[in-house]
Amino acid sequence: MAKFTTMTSDLYAYMAGHRSDRDPLLAELAEETKSLGPISMMQVAPDQGAFLTLLARISGVRNAIEIGTFTGYSALCIARGLPQDGTLLCCDSSEEWTAVARKYFERSGLSGRIELRLGPALETLDTLDESEQFDLAFIDADKTNYSHYFDGLLARIRPNGLMLFDNVLWGGSVIDVTNTQDGTKAIRALNDKVRDDPRVESVMLGVSDGLTIARKRRVEELD
Ligand SMILES: C[S@@+](CC[C@H](N)C(=O)[O-])C[C@H]1O[C@@H](n2cnc3c(N)ncnc32)[C@H](O)[C@@H]1O
Repeated sequence: MAKFTTMTSDLYAYMAGHRSDRDPLLAELAEETKSLGPISMMQVAPDQGAFLTLLARISGVRNAIEIGTFTGYSALCIARGLPQDGTLLCCDSSEEWTAVARKYFERSGLSGRIELRLGPALETLDTLDESEQFDLAFIDADKTNYSHYFDGLLARIRPNGLMLFDNVLWGGSVIDVTNTQDGTKAIRALNDKVRDDPRVESVMLGVSDGLTIARKRRVEELD
């Protein structure tokens, strides 16, 4: 018997109906995002958002960074899982989409925890102070730079901290050998890289379009 349950729309609706937290502001943000049209697909699903909140909370994350904020759904989910003095640095290149995010950050009462920096994320990472460290990074932006985000962020993640990569199944195309698109190749490269890097312990989960969680090992765990 297969060790997984194939998702259907009905099963997904059942699953969605069995989540405890239902923040009306997040639902409103999802609605406003939906009104943007097909591009709204970029937003993480509500169950994945709830997972991000829970993960940030149970891991005791204090300082987080997000690469790819869009209209702010995943950012708000992460921010909700932070303690009062926690911080979330959001990196995105779109002024238009993050204008929606800013509005909801204000309304959530969590804007004091969130800083948004506009520009190509790799450049933003380069401008960070050398001492700036994070407990959690959520990467959900341009796939062709995923490996660069891994390389750039690993040094900034505290030991035992987490790096999360979204869309690592890329709609299933990662196993389609006929698919040689840049984004697909980049995600395959990232997936191999994370698995093979002894500095992290990782697992790829079938959440939404695939989510990899990589924990940075402590020095004493390395040979
Ligand atoms: C998939 S969306 C993020 C969705 C978001 N995590 C959410 O749940 O709503 C990807 C975002 O990455 C941003 N982006 C793409 N390439 C980027 C880059 N090189 N630097 C910064 N942001 C980038 C886009 O502007 C877009 O808002």
